[in-house]
Amino acid sequence: MNDLRDLLDNNRRWAAGMVTRSPDFFSGLVAQQAPRYLWIGCSDSRVPANEIVGLPPGELFVHRNVANIVMHNDFSCLSVLQYAVEVLEVEHIIVCGHYGCGGVQAAWEGRQLGLVDNWLRPIRDLALRYRDVLSQLPEPSQRFDRLCELNVLLQALRVCRTTIVQQAWDRGQDLTVHAWVYGLTDGLLRDLDFSVSDVASTETEFERAVGLDAPRT
Ligand code: CO
Repeated sequence: MNDLRDLLDNNRRWAAGMVTRSPDFFSGLVAQQAPRYLWIGCSDSRVPANEIVGLPPGELFVHRNVANIVMHNDFSCLSVLQYAVEVLEVEHIIVCGHYGCGGVQAAWEGRQLGLVDNWLRPIRDLALRYRDVLSQLPEPSQRFDRLCELNVLLQALRVCRTTIVQQAWDRGQDLTVHAWVYGLTDGLLRDLDFSVSDVASTETEFERAVGLDAPRT
């Protein structure tokens, strides 16, 4: 318990600082949240979602898991997505991966870490699928970086393929899905040039952004 004392002390200072700057800050948030953005990112402690985009509490709805994977049978991720799209009516979904991702690296190298190997299997399959393209890159670090990017693009594609997002577009809802990657070494976000707002352009946007055929599953 004593080990956590610092965290609780930090929290008291943070809350007091927020009230000093904006006396109504917490009472304003209690009424309701109205974020415009859903963030789907990696659990990595070095990629704190709100902090790197400079957004305070209340402005970013967040789902994070190991290696920012979107599985169509993951009720946690799908529930976040459904609530964000249908109840909060977010306007943007940002799938954000990062270079140096331990999950991507473990999948790439086929390292055995336990249960998480099963979770990371889609990235291993992705690496095998695009093996020829990746092997054309001269440096191992370039291949690893590219696989991190391909993983983000694949997961963004999967978001677009969910019934939740497709039905929102059918209703005419204003909703755009983006793919970003974060650099641990410089703290900067890169837009991977995948920005989709309708069913019709989903597959072609992916193929244009990646330069390769979209996987069918
Ligand atoms: Co990661």
